Amino acid sequence: MGPVKLEKVVFALNGRRHEVAGADVHPGTTLLEFIRTRTPFTGTKLGCGEGGCGACVVLIATYNPTKDEVTEFSASSCLTLLYNINLCSVITTEGLGNTKDGFHSIQKRMAGFHASQCGFCTPGMCMSIFTSLANADKSKKPEPQKGFSKLTVSEAERAFSGNMCRCTGYRPIVDACKSFASDVDLEDLGLNVFWKKGDKHADVSKLPAYTLGGGVCTFPDFLKSEIKSSLHHLNDDSDVTISREGWYHPKSIEQYYDLLNSGLFSDCPVKVVVANTSSGVKGYKDQDLYDKYIDIGDIPELSAIWKKDGGIEIGAATPISKTIEILEQEAGSKSSPNGSVVFRKLAEHMSKVATPFVRNTASIGGNIILAQKYPFPSDIATILLGAASTVRLQVYSQTLEVTLEEFLEQPPSDPSTLLLSIFIPHWASDSQKESKVIFETYRAAPRPLGNAVSYINSAMLGHVSQKSSGDLVLSNLRMAFGAYGTEHAIRATKVEQHLNGKVLAPSVVLEAVQLLRETVVPMEGTSHAEYRVSVAVAFLFSFLSPFAKGIKGPGKNPSIGSASSSDTDDPCNLPLSSRRDTVSSGDHKPVGEPIKKYAVELQASGEAVYVDDIPAPKNCLYGEFIYSTQPLAYVKNIKFKPSLASEKVLTVVSAKDIPSGGQNIGSSFMFGDEPLFGSPVAEYAGQALGVVIAETQRYANLAGKQVVVEYDTKDLKPPILTVEQAVQNNSYFEVPPGKYPKQVGDFSKGMAEADHKILSTEVKLASQYYFYMETQTALAIPDEDNTIVVYSSSQYPELAQNVIARCLGIPFSNVRVITRRVGGGFGGKAFRSFTVATAAALCAFKLHRPVRMYLNRSTDMIMIGGRHPIKAYYTVGFKSNGRITALHLDILINAGISPDASPLMPDTMMSGLKKYNWGALSFDIKVCKTNNTSKSVMRAPGDTQGSFIAEAIIEHVA
Ligand SMILES: Cc1cc2nc3c(=O)[nH]c(=O)nc-3n(C[C@H](O)[C@H](O)[C@H](O)COP(=O)(O)OP(=O)(O)OC[C@H]3O[C@@H](n4cnc5c(N)ncnc54)[C@H](O)[C@@H]3O)c2cc1C
Ligand code: FES
Ligand code: FES
Repeated sequence: MGPVKLEKVVFALNGRRHEVAGADVHPGTTLLEFIRTRTPFTGTKLGCGEGGCGACVVLIATYNPTKDEVTEFSASSCLTLLYNINLCSVITTEGLGNTKDGFHSIQKRMAGFHASQCGFCTPGMCMSIFTSLANADKSKKPEPQKGFSKLTVSEAERAFSGNMCRCTGYRPIVDACKSFASDVDLEDLGLNVFWKKGDKHADVSKLPAYTLGGGVCTFPDFLKSEIKSSLHHLNDDSDVTISREGWYHPKSIEQYYDLLNSGLFSDCPVKVVVANTSSGVKGYKDQDLYDKYIDIGDIPELSAIWKKDGGIEIGAATPISKTIEILEQEAGSKSSPNGSVVFRKLAEHMSKVATPFVRNTASIGGNIILAQKYPFPSDIATILLGAASTVRLQVYSQTLEVTLEEFLEQPPSDPSTLLLSIFIPHWASDSQKESKVIFETYRAAPRPLGNAVSYINSAMLGHVSQKSSGDLVLSNLRMAFGAYGTEHAIRATKVEQHLNGKVLAPSVVLEAVQLLRETVVPMEGTSHAEYRVSVAVAFLFSFLSPFAKGIKGPGKNPSIGSASSSDTDDPCNLPLSSRRDTVSSGDHKPVGEPIKKYAVELQASGEAVYVDDIPAPKNCLYGEFIYSTQPLAYVKNIKFKPSLASEKVLTVVSAKDIPSGGQNIGSSFMFGDEPLFGSPVAEYAGQALGVVIAETQRYANLAGKQVVVEYDTKDLKPPILTVEQAVQNNSYFEVPPGKYPKQVGDFSKGMAEADHKILSTEVKLASQYYFYMETQTALAIPDEDNTIVVYSSSQYPELAQNVIARCLGIPFSNVRVITRRVGGGFGGKAFRSFTVATAAALCAFKLHRPVRMYLNRSTDMIMIGGRHPIKAYYTVGFKSNGRITALHLDILINAGISPDASPLMPDTMMSGLKKYNWGALSFDIKVCKTNNTSKSVMRAPGDTQGSFIAEAIIEHVA
């Protein structure tokens, strides 16, 4: 008997059976890719491909035939591999409702509460909300009033946490979701089409009807029957079929090692997975294709839970969400009254890891292995280290039990090591010594409530007891710190030893701080290193201060052993959000009337067609940019590393493929053109050098990562990267006189009137990325007689037509550009979209086949400019009563490589500034040409920078 190779995947998608044979679908195919390329459903969107935005959220349901129980959870389909959903049921937004069968009340309420603008995030929002409603309605909570769900308002506020929206603002989405909550006051909800604001008759009957449970069958009967009838087969072992591609899912530890020993993987790397979410983590994404996968999630030992006297042992493949549930239950159970603080805090902290739709599949063991193998900023490893956890490992026939601390310190593990389980001990207070357990965990991250990896995290455990003198002392301390730029989480043992048994007088605490600074030392090259260390100190201080003598703590209750958290970032402690609306009188109807946006239900149901939703035409190929990583260099050669992904490259299209009569042009506006490719010289990092063509977008994207470009900087001047270097080199874009703003009054006179002066002070503003949910995309289809149709996600299709025609050297009338809608643009799809549309058109023209390009998120972030960064120096004079009499500004705008719309920036910036009366206003504004991506218009271009400068000055004066 050998281990099992999965030959086919069977699942239900929106109630329909799908059977996919292994030979048909590559094992690296994600559920998202399958839905979008192999089915008619388009509602599940690709926003980031990293589990970070929620655009791809679907509901996955599993069935337990023994208990006859269906479990539903949300998941990011961009990380879930298709082979991982064998015998599952998947529901997308189309499965909730659609034009033909009628829209679901979630879709209708999203529409009616104006909760969708571009609509790209809306299907994912609907799926997260639906999953929350379905799960709340299954709970044992009391029956709600007819028309409502069991979901509470506070749960509604978190129902779609992790789903990003870049257009609408979350308020209307929260309102749509809250409208289902059993304890909602409907009159508190915002503007909607169901009733007028202030209407005393806002009642549930006016809302699209909701049936308890959501009214959608999430697990079809046929699949239940199929599972029941195939139960005996499921447990069967079958012989391994040796093939080039494959998905292997051993059902026992023995099978796993048989598989490793089979010699199957000697010729190519194999990827061992549980939920595959690590492929969404920055720095740990797949760099190459894998043809073989081993899914260890089916090994029973890895999913078991053992409740023991001394603690709880959790199988390594247990999802983080399930682990949270188990810890919460354990914390609430009578069997572990003293340990509850540890379990409760661990659960609380874990609920800030990633997002619900990642936690629902991501395994706790996968996280620890990442932390063991790489310098991954894991929260889970740190907090489990703080809680003195141990791990059980299998290495071939040997089972080992080691502390997590020892495991983290071992050399990076390889597939021969299986992490079986994690044991978390109970921590008991000692009634004889009258000591109580204290445990705190901390994390500092860009977003405190989750969906952002920590800058630093920590967990501190110990016992606190009171001496006869009344002083408090700590003992048995364990202090863990991680994610601060370290190989792995560590214990601050010197700090622990120093503090154990001491009264926490100020000098003792100060010494502990000093020792901690010597322990928490970020690796070289770590960003914000000083900040991280200072936060570590702050964590230590927060932990110690309630017990310290003569130190006032940051708002903690100093009672012995209270260990209760006063975290303000705990979602449970957050007050519910509130709202205030200004309602128009109705005098200017229909202005001020809440009118539903056109086709918004279609956006919610996923039927609205964006560029990537247009079915791929016959013979369609896919492209990914090759871009320069040098700011200024000759491009000598483009090669590919030997790899599986490189084998997928069909061809590379570059400047040499521009037809005769055409031009190397990729963008244009009234101030000049921009080349499509850096040829022969790349002029900025991020400039397109060519396009890799492959048979799928995934292949093209991975092949793009295999590129090796040979550069040469001989005879080239150093690149101009900063505005200061631009000034030194006199490198500016000209601002036409008619576009240069007018000065106001006499600056010298204004300064003479001033009682106070602030001289030449700097203010600067960095760039900002667009972050439209739909990245830049185009589909180009060659047509008869040298004509071409380009579907482009563009805010400026008419100019796109001009640029494409000039690149291809054909009449404008030969190019048809079609834009139905864009999934967010914010200015970034005005001139910046032309490069993608033109590149796709050129590839299609050259290859005589349709070519689609849908930039992956990181390529988009690297290549597509963003907001103009600025640096300004101000000299301002003002009277003692605060009145400003004169302002002079020297402003340097970093426009990047091409003029784009940048020469308009001085005028728009000044209109932002002129909202204040400065008395006299003089300025010198330079639009600097630098070797950076071209900066372009973005949400209130110029006005934002002008207002920012104005506010900085006013604040300084005040
Ligand atoms: C958007 C996003 C945000 C995130 N935010 C955070 C965060 O804030 N804090 C944090 O700590 N983590 C965060 N994570 C990481 C997340 O917790 C991990 O990706 C996840 O736990 C990995 O589990 P998995 O089952 O998907 O592992 P996989 O991706 O399937 O596997 C990961 C690695 O572990 C190996 N492996 C898995 N299980 C075992 C086992 N039992 N024995 C041996 N090897 C094994 C695999 O071979 C692979 O090398 C985030 C992830 C994403 C996608
Ligand atoms: S979370 Fe999957 S596309 Fe963003
Ligand atoms: S409507 Fe949410 S991203 Fe555009």
